[in-house]
Amino acid sequence: MTEISVHEDADDLARAMALDLADRLTTIQATGQVPQLVLTGGTIASTLYAALADVPGPDWGRVEVWWGDERYVAADSEDRNDAQARTALLDRVGVDPDLVHPMPAEDGSCTDVDAAASSYAETVRGSGADHFDIVLLGLGPDGHVASLFPGSTQVHVEDRAVVAVTDSPKPPPQRISLTMPCLNRTEEVWFVVSGEGKADAVARSLSSEGTVAQTPARGITATSRWYLDTGAASLL
Ligand code: 6PG
Repeated sequence: MTEISVHEDADDLARAMALDLADRLTTIQATGQVPQLVLTGGTIASTLYAALADVPGPDWGRVEVWWGDERYVAADSEDRNDAQARTALLDRVGVDPDLVHPMPAEDGSCTDVDAAASSYAETVRGSGADHFDIVLLGLGPDGHVASLFPGSTQVHVEDRAVVAVTDSPKPPPQRISLTMPCLNRTEEVWFVVSGEGKADAVARSLSSEGTVAQTPARGITATSRWYLDTGAASLL
């Protein structure tokens, strides 16, 4: 099932999505579960996180946090998706560090990006959470999700949960990404997409035409919610 909501602009989009996300996390917690939340990188994601930090609701000390992809750079690099999430959200809401799982950094203990991908796959597997509750995804203008890019072999990997990327067309080149099967092992995927520059990718992602190789977002088969602003929705 796919649900689409369109909001006036990026700020309205972020505020509306933050309210829904806080509400969903709270609802999951009310059942006694620890919500399994996968964060994305990206510009509009940062706006979402800032809005989310201002919304009362979930007990952030009981939310388990993962990443869908990460740039394989030094741990203190501002380029890291976890750096962006910590600044905008995690450092402001009081999470339990034992429940926050950043992907390995280039200056960490892994020998290279392949080893780092394998290490994170072990972490995901070892957590016992064999599926997520909500996977957040941004969308590239080329239709990429996480660090799964059009025409790349990583888009089609089925036998692993996490892959290494060494030739990302979106800098930096080295990245770690959850695979499509892993991204789909979730109750829901929530897309957050802003701006006219994404309108074509949104239309291609939601059409019945085209291949996953051309538009990786089409590989998301989990129940999805699309949070768009008017620019991103302008070709629907
Ligand atoms: C990354 C992101 C990537 C991002 C999209 C959209 O590491 O770069 O995870 O998948 O979500 O490229 O990014 P923008 O919202 O900045 O366009």
